[in-house]
Amino acid sequence: MRLIPLDNAKDVGLWSARYIADAINKFAPTADRPFVLGCPTGGTPLNTYKRLIELNKAGEVSFEHVVTFNMDEYVGIAPDHPESYRSFMYNNFFNHINIQEKNINLLDGNAEDLEAECQRYEDKIASYGKINLFMGGVGNDGHIAFNEPASSLASRTRIKTLTPDTRIANSRFFDNDINQVPKLALTIGVGTLLDAEKVLILVTGHNKAQALEAAVEGSVNHLWTVSALQLHPKSIIACDEPATMEL
Ligand code: GLP
Repeated sequence: MRLIPLDNAKDVGLWSARYIADAINKFAPTADRPFVLGCPTGGTPLNTYKRLIELNKAGEVSFEHVVTFNMDEYVGIAPDHPESYRSFMYNNFFNHINIQEKNINLLDGNAEDLEAECQRYEDKIASYGKINLFMGGVGNDGHIAFNEPASSLASRTRIKTLTPDTRIANSRFFDNDINQVPKLALTIGVGTLLDAEKVLILVTGHNKAQALEAAVEGSVNHLWTVSALQLHPKSIIACDEPATMEL
């Protein structure tokens, strides 16, 4: 595991955006051989998306032959709800870069058959061979995507019940009203994430300090699913200073 400690959240955004742009450029994707990027939502990656948009506009990276797969989606909120992860991705990233619509992959939290939707997603990822780089954030309790504490470290894309802690943390996006936060989500599994060629996790803020400690210094443990990174041959954590408080 590579740990990249940086001064602040802005620097984490700058560093991670440059890392992603360099990875895409080095790969030199084409229509027949696209670069496959895994994408998170949440407050943490906003600085990264902002910088990637700037790099795209400056001609320093192109998303024309980049295929994306998002990590997760709430179940049962309208796709155009401002807090759906679909809306988040279009508003904060996709609408501002030269990505092709057909290359965007999102989980449909309103699918009639949610289990079939999860299998469809796994099959679509498999159709590309592998995800080249999966970027992610982490929850206060160490969850990656929506792999809540005690998720199997071999799990695949599936339906998950959100913990009260996660719903409380995410209520800040829903008028601070936990009752508006969905109870279920679709999420890639820890196993899905570990299959990616490279994994880049962003950790910022003092409220993530315990999660970072569990990821770096704790044992591999299903209670802190981020610790599964220790099993990955090419995982990187980029963090800011406040997040290192418990190291
Ligand atoms: C949600 C998402 C995660 C994200 C986490 C932390 O639970 N499903 O993918 O990493 O929130 O979000 P934030 O970056 O806003 O702290």
